Amino acid sequence: MTKTNSTIFHSAIIFMLLLEIKIQLSDASDFLVDRSKTGLIHVPKDLSLKTTNLDISRNCISELSASDILSLSKLRILIISHNRIQYLNISVFEFNQELEYLDLSHNMLEKISCHPTVNLKHLDLSFNAFDFLPICKEFGNMSQLQFLGLSATRLQKSSVLPIAHLHIGKVLLVLGDSYGEKEDPESLQELNTESLHIVFPTSQEFHFILDVSINTAVSLELSNIQCVLHNNGCSYFLNVLSKLQKNSRLSNLTLNNIITTWYSFITILQSVWHTSVEFFSISNVKLQGHLDFRDFDYSDTSLKTLSIHQVVSDTFTLSQSYIYKIFSNMNIQNFTVTGTQMMHMVCPSQMSPFLHLDFSNNLLTDMVFNNCGNLARLETLSLQMNQLKKLANIVHMTKEMKSLQLDISQNSLSYDENEGYCFWTISLLSLNMSSNILTNSVFRCLPPRVKVLDLHNNRIRNIPTDVTSLEALQELNVAFNSLAHLPGCGSFSSLSVLTIDYNAISNPSAHFFQSCQKIRSIKAGNNPFQCTCELREFIQSIGQVSREVVEGWPDSYKCDYPESYKDTLLKDFHVSPLSCNTALLIVTIGVTGLVFAVTVTILCIYFDLPWYLRMMCQWTQTRHRARNINLDELQRTLQFHAFISYSGHDSVWVKSELLPNLEKEDIRICLHERNFVPGKSIVENIVTCIENSYKSIFVLSPNFVQSEWGHYELYFAHHHLFHEGSNNLILILLEPIPKYSIPSSYHKLKILMAQRTYLEWPKEKNKHGLFWANLRASIHIKLMKQAKEIAHTYI
Ligand SMILES: *[C@@H]1O[C@H](CO)[C@@H](O)[C@H](O)[C@H]1NC(C)=O
Ligand SMILES: *[C@@H]1O[C@H](CO)[C@@H](O)[C@H](O)[C@H]1NC(C)=O
Ligand SMILES: *[C@@H]1O[C@H](CO)[C@@H](O)[C@H](O)[C@H]1NC(C)=O
Ligand SMILES: *[C@@H]1O[C@H](CO)[C@@H](O)[C@H](O)[C@H]1NC(C)=O
Ligand SMILES: *[C@@H]1O[C@H](CO)[C@@H](O)[C@H](O)[C@H]1NC(C)=O
Repeated sequence: MTKTNSTIFHSAIIFMLLLEIKIQLSDASDFLVDRSKTGLIHVPKDLSLKTTNLDISRNCISELSASDILSLSKLRILIISHNRIQYLNISVFEFNQELEYLDLSHNMLEKISCHPTVNLKHLDLSFNAFDFLPICKEFGNMSQLQFLGLSATRLQKSSVLPIAHLHIGKVLLVLGDSYGEKEDPESLQELNTESLHIVFPTSQEFHFILDVSINTAVSLELSNIQCVLHNNGCSYFLNVLSKLQKNSRLSNLTLNNIITTWYSFITILQSVWHTSVEFFSISNVKLQGHLDFRDFDYSDTSLKTLSIHQVVSDTFTLSQSYIYKIFSNMNIQNFTVTGTQMMHMVCPSQMSPFLHLDFSNNLLTDMVFNNCGNLARLETLSLQMNQLKKLANIVHMTKEMKSLQLDISQNSLSYDENEGYCFWTISLLSLNMSSNILTNSVFRCLPPRVKVLDLHNNRIRNIPTDVTSLEALQELNVAFNSLAHLPGCGSFSSLSVLTIDYNAISNPSAHFFQSCQKIRSIKAGNNPFQCTCELREFIQSIGQVSREVVEGWPDSYKCDYPESYKDTLLKDFHVSPLSCNTALLIVTIGVTGLVFAVTVTILCIYFDLPWYLRMMCQWTQTRHRARNINLDELQRTLQFHAFISYSGHDSVWVKSELLPNLEKEDIRICLHERNFVPGKSIVENIVTCIENSYKSIFVLSPNFVQSEWGHYELYFAHHHLFHEGSNNLILILLEPIPKYSIPSSYHKLKILMAQRTYLEWPKEKNKHGLFWANLRASIHIKLMKQAKEIAHTYI
C-alpha cells in the first residue's frame, strides 16, 4: 500500500468510528420517552422507532391496539398505568419481541385475552376491575417472570394452576372491594412465589378466611387490615396469622394500614412471636380503646427485628406503662419505634438482648431509661427528634452502656455547666448531638474517647481552648454554628475530618494545616471570608495541601467582605505582597526616597540641575507670554528684533558668540555703534535703537555695571521700561556681579538681580545649546517670523 493510500484508509476508519459513535449517541437520546400526565387519549403515533422505554402513564387512554405499538420493535419497557383501558388482547405485543416490562396497573381492565405472547419479566395487572384472576394458560410460558401484579374479586385455586410451576420473585395480589363473598381459603396454595403481597379491600372489616401461608414464601406483606369490632376481637385476622406457623420458611412479615384496638395489636404481636418470622415490620397503625394489664409470652421466638412506624392512638387517657413494659422486655436484637406518641420507655427488668434501638421521632423526654443498668449490650441508640432537654440527664442515662453509638440529634438539648454532672461512659465512640441548642459549654461535657462527634446546627460561638483533649476524635462536624475561628488541632490530635462550613469564620488561621497534620478532609466553605491581607496566608496554605482535602474548593469559598470583592472566589483573590507587608512597604518607600535624594544630589553637584531648572522655568514662562503677545503692538516696533547693549570689555563675547548665534536665526539686531546715525549723541542713538527694537538685550557683567548702566538709567526711569510686567527687557548675566559692586543708586538693577530674571551664561559648553534656545525663545522668533511678513508689506 502506498503512503497516500494508507492515509486515506486510516481516515476512513476514523470517519466510520465517529459515525458509529454519533449513531450510538442519538440512540441514547431517543430511547427514553416520557409522555406521562400529558392528557393523551390514544397512544401517540409520533414515537421514534428506536424507543425502548415508553411511559404513557396517568393519561386517559382507553384502548391499546396492535397498530399503536406494532412498529416499536425495540420496546423493552412500557408503562401504561393509571389510564382507562378496559380490555386487552395481549397479542397486541406480538411484534414487540423485546418487551420485558409491562405495567398496566390502575386501569379498568375487566378482561384480557391471551395468545402466544412475549416472555415478560415484569407484568403488572394489579388495581384493575378483574373478577377472576387474570392468569391465562399462556402465562405458563413466561419462564423469566420476576414480578406478577394481579387483581380479582374472586379467587379460585384453578386460576393459579397455569403458573404453579414458575418460581416467581414477587406476586402482588389486590383484592377488589367485593371480595369475600364465596371464599376458597385454599385458593392461593398453589402460588409459587418467594414474596407475596396481598392488598385487602379497604373500608371493609377483616372477615376473610384466606390462607396466606404459601409454602414457598419467605416474605409476606399484608395491607389494609381493619378489625375494630369488639365482638370478634380481630379473630379472623388472628386466625390468618396463626396459620403462618406452618410455613417455616417465612422470615419477613410486614403489615400496613391497620386499624384495630390496643388489645388486638398486642395480640397480633404475640401471635407473630411464635412463628418463624425474623423481621417484623408494622406501619401506619390506628389504635383505639384501652389496654389492661396482660402478660406477654416472649418464649420460643425467631424474631430478631421489630419495627413499628407511624402509630396514632385515639385515646389519651391510656395507661401507657403496660405497653412500655411489654416493649422494653422484648427479647430481640433490633427494635424500632418511630413516628408515635410514645413519651417514655422503661428500663428492661433484666439484662436485655437489645443491640440496636431506634426511637426516633417520638415524644420521649430526658427520663427515658432512667437509671438503667440492663441495656449494657446496646450498640446503637437513636433518640433523634424527641423532647430531650438536659444533656446531663442523657449523660446519666448512658453511664452503664458499654459500647454505644448515640444519636440525640434534633432535640432541645442544652448543657449547663453549673449542673455539674458530666461523666460520659468511657466507651462512647460516636455521638450525634446535631440540631440542638448547645453552646460553647458542650465542650466541657464530651465523652473522652469519642471518635465521631456531630455538633452541627447548634449555638456554638467558639471552642474553648482549655477543654480536656479528645485524643481519639477523628471526625468533628460543627457546621451551621456561629464559630468565628478555625480551631487548631491542639486538643484533637487525631482529627482527620472537620466540617465547619456555614459558620462566621472571616479570617481563618493559616496555621490550621500545620496544627492538624492528620487532616484528610476539611469542609469550610460558605463562611463570610474577609478578603484582606491576612487571608492570603490561609489561601496559600490551602494551595499547599492536596485538593481532595479541601471539600467544596473552590466554589463554596467566597469573599464576603470588602464589598468590592463580594462573591469573588477565594481562589481568584490576589493582592500584591507589597501592600500586605508593612515592614516591606516602609523599607521600599525608604529606599525609593533615598535613591531619589541621592540622584537629585548627584544631579545638582555634577550637572548643575538648578541652573537647568531655572532655564526651563524661564523658557516656559516666555513661551507662555509669547502666546499673549499683541501683534498690533509688534508692528509698531518692527525695524529690529533686538537691541544689544554691552560693555566694550565684553565685545569679544558679543561679536563671537551672541551675534552669530542670533543672526543665524535671521534675528535683526541693532548695535548702537553699527547702526550709528551721525549727528546724534550716543545716548540719542541708543534711544533710537531701543525704540526701533522689539526687545532690549543687556549683557551684564561687572564691567557693564561700572561703565554703561548709567547711560540707561535715566532713560529707563523716563520711559517706565522697568514697570511691572514689562517684558521687552532681556538681561544676560555674562559674569556674576557681586552685590557690593552695584552702585547703591542703581535701584532697578538691584531689584532685577534680586528677582533673578536674567539668563545666566553658562561656562560649561554642553549647556550653551539650552542657553541659546532660551534666549531665542525670549525674542519670540516664531512670532517675529510671522511679523516679518507683515512688516515687509508695512514698510
Ligand atoms: C387477539 O389478537 C389476535 C391477533 O391479533 C387475534 O388472532 C385474536 O382473535 C384476538 N383475540 C380476541 C379475543 O379478539
Ligand atoms: C409454551 O411454549 C411451548 C414451546 O415454545 C409450546 O409448545 C406451548 O404450546 C406453549 N404453551 C402455551 C400455553 O402457550
Ligand atoms: C427481609 O427483611 C430484611 C430486613 O428488612 C431484608 O434485608 C431482606 O431483604 C428481606 N427479605 C425479603 C425476601 O424480602
Ligand atoms: C439491626 O440494626 C442494625 C443497625 O440498624 C443493622 O446494622 C443490623 O443489620 C440489624 N440487624 C438485624 C438482625 O436486623
Ligand atoms: C446526625 O444526625 C443527623 C440527623 O439528625 C444526620 O443528618 C447526620 O448525618 C448524623 N451524623 C452522623 C455523623 O451520623
